[in-house]
Amino acid sequence: ETGYEAKPRAPVVTVMGHVDHGKTSLLDYIRKSRVQAGEAGGITQHIGAYHVETDRGMVSFLDTPGHAAFTAMRARGAKATDIVILVVAADDGVMPQTEEAVQHAKAAGVPIVVAVNKMDKEDADPDRVKNELSARDVIPEEWGGDTQFMPVSALTGQGVEELLEAVILQAEVLELTAPDEGPARGVVVESRLDKGRGPVATVLVQAGMLNQGDNILVGQQFGRVRAMLDEDGRPIKAAGPSIPVEILGLDGTPDAGDEMLVVRDERKAREIALFRQGKFREVKLARQQA
Ligand code: GTP
Ligand code: NA
Ligand code: MG
Repeated sequence: ETGYEAKPRAPVVTVMGHVDHGKTSLLDYIRKSRVQAGEAGGITQHIGAYHVETDRGMVSFLDTPGHAAFTAMRARGAKATDIVILVVAADDGVMPQTEEAVQHAKAAGVPIVVAVNKMDKEDADPDRVKNELSARDVIPEEWGGDTQFMPVSALTGQGVEELLEAVILQAEVLELTAPDEGPARGVVVESRLDKGRGPVATVLVQAGMLNQGDNILVGQQFGRVRAMLDEDGRPIKAAGPSIPVEILGLDGTPDAGDEMLVVRDERKAREIALFRQGKFREVKLARQQA
């Protein structure tokens, strides 16, 4: 549609599941085990999005505290994720937010890979998890279904490599593509107001190339990409499909799930943003000044 050639891109994987079942621990383990020794520093800061390199290419991950982001994204029709890792604690089984996650994934048509977590615990019961999810129509391959169930421990790392392989296998089936040139399009994962740096938004680029200096329209906000940071806080100049980046330079904090578009004309971006904010008088004034 953009006239730019679609090329293979990395899968975007959202980790979902009931509270305290180990979503963040699992992501932290994956990240730590893949960060070069020495690079990690001492402090592991929580971040909602990052990517890792594997032998078979890159994978991007999104964490969902409380599902707010995923729900918002779905409500806005932005398909931000390709695969859901459904984390279920093996000592706890299927819980309300597990069911909610299953419903979200099914409604969005996103394949699920189940991570049966906390396998290191004495009372871990993976068969119970299989039974309870089968009752919700998430059926393991070994029982004739099409869902991979992977036993893991985010604490010891047991099974995590195999889980990654299962995710990559699932991604290969999907044959994901996007152009890596032209004006970028993406979706907001999270945003916050930073004391020193102003509005900071974590954006997942979905298509095209986002460059420092680009004029962007993000939900009700607009701005110019003053700086971009990767997930380790290092400045970068450009980001392509499936790469999460922190953006500085917006006039306000957008909502999770908001669409980001690169626009050629900064004035137009401001006008649309003001319009979306309901500031019609300001729109009129801006037009008169133009
Ligand atoms: P929310 O973001 O609050 O929904 O929780 P979460 O799903 O991200 O869970 P989190 O990673 O915060 O883990 C919750 C608790 O379970 C922590 O105390 C973890 O240390 C513990 N935990 C996570 N994974 C494992 C595991 O594999 N084995 C054991 N024994 N404990 C785990
Ligand atoms: Na927690
Ligand atoms: Mg968490």
